[in-house]
Amino acid sequence: MTMTDPTTAAHAAAAAPRVAFPPGFAWGAATAAYQIEGAAAEDGRTPSIWDVFARTPGKVLNGDTGDVAVDHYHRFREDVRLMADLGLTSYRFSLSWPRIQPTGRGPAVERGLDFYRALTDTLLEHGISPVATLYHWDLPQDLEEAGGWPVRETAHRFAEYAALAASALGDRIPVWTTLNEPWCSAFLGYGSGVHAPGRTSPADALKAAHHLNLGHGLAVGALREILPASAQLSVSLNLHLLRPLTDTPEDHEAVRRIDAVGNRVWTGPMFKGGYPEDLKADTAHLVDWDDLVRPGDEAEIGRPIDLLCLNYYNPTVVSAPRAELATADAARNDGHGASDHSPWPGSEEIVFHLANDDLTAMGWPIDAGGLTDSLLGMQRDFGLPLMVTENGAAFEDVVGPDGEVHDPERLRYVRLHLEAVAEAIAAGADVRGYYLWSFLDNFEWAYGYSKRFGIVHVDYTTQRRTPKSSATWYSEVIRRGGLD
Ligand code: FCB
Repeated sequence: MTMTDPTTAAHAAAAAPRVAFPPGFAWGAATAAYQIEGAAAEDGRTPSIWDVFARTPGKVLNGDTGDVAVDHYHRFREDVRLMADLGLTSYRFSLSWPRIQPTGRGPAVERGLDFYRALTDTLLEHGISPVATLYHWDLPQDLEEAGGWPVRETAHRFAEYAALAASALGDRIPVWTTLNEPWCSAFLGYGSGVHAPGRTSPADALKAAHHLNLGHGLAVGALREILPASAQLSVSLNLHLLRPLTDTPEDHEAVRRIDAVGNRVWTGPMFKGGYPEDLKADTAHLVDWDDLVRPGDEAEIGRPIDLLCLNYYNPTVVSAPRAELATADAARNDGHGASDHSPWPGSEEIVFHLANDDLTAMGWPIDAGGLTDSLLGMQRDFGLPLMVTENGAAFEDVVGPDGEVHDPERLRYVRLHLEAVAEAIAAGADVRGYYLWSFLDNFEWAYGYSKRFGIVHVDYTTQRRTPKSSATWYSEVIRRGGLD
């Protein structure tokens, strides 16, 4: 099968899909720099917070690091060919800040930019439209040593880096997202400490959130000045789709609190003119918001963007504290990793519950209806065109005796979620694309290489790539323009 197979159009027309997607819908897959590139010390790249965190004993399972990862830095041509063979029409990847601007200050490193020039050229040659994320969690370590995201200066550093990237690559990348899941950067990085840089201060986590927001706004301003008018700017948020455990006022109050510190901390200043009053009240004992947020900051953060991107894996069910669930285990079913420190500043007492027991290898419940609800809620609340920039699942994949990787559970997960996207579109959501997480098996943060999310299996010893049966199926969905 190739992209240019002359029989494709006729075949697709002959057998129209049962669930069709709009013309021009982007059929993608996603990755992130630190999770796949490797080449950690090549061509001028210096350590990011993830290099340092991964080297800290006990932080990442089995002491795994991204030093080599899946060696995409050297194998990107083979990887792009594989994308083209599968028929992907778009590919979302992230730019590595420490590869482009190693210390987070000063001029760009041309060799670092050359890698992304070559990658994007190769994508475009194969008819695959690039979507670049500027920040997928790899802050240059030098900036962490200068205070990291809890200090304001980091937001300005980020905007400067965004400008360097846009000046060099703006002619070939039509869609840019500023931050990937800033909730994780702020609250897992500086709150619960399960992500780099591994700090555990509720106050710093909130300060990081504001400076990530500010960095987003400043970067949007910088990108608009440099990029062609046709460029589409966005941010990828992991908005939590919240449900109360019961219909009691106490459980609805739990939803309100987690919605404030999980969702509206981003969408308030980005789309609604400022931080929500209830968030500020819930966290007033931790930060002085009047001191943290300077005049003009919220307007900066609220600069208009063109698209809103959602990363969705599972819904979040919460309740007020419950006596029968007082054990630590039951108390933190939020799917974000075990820590003695909460990633929910000011709302540490809220209890998380699994939505069901149909679980992936991450222990995340499978509930595709949550994706439909998320998209419809975003359409209603923000009125922007939407994309799903991540959705997928880890399972215990094995290479069979026939050399193939059969992953029916992932195929089912993706099918259910594509149906959920189609349902949202049918109900009026303007969804422009879907990016499966992930194209390749890769370094899954604190879980190291133990969790496989790829539709392409990677043998970490030989770096051999083997498309799983879900990849073959996805490729058929793309060819038909929808689901059967
Ligand atoms: C998201 C991350 C992505 C990947 C998936 C499984 O939170 O953005 O890098 O790790 O989870």
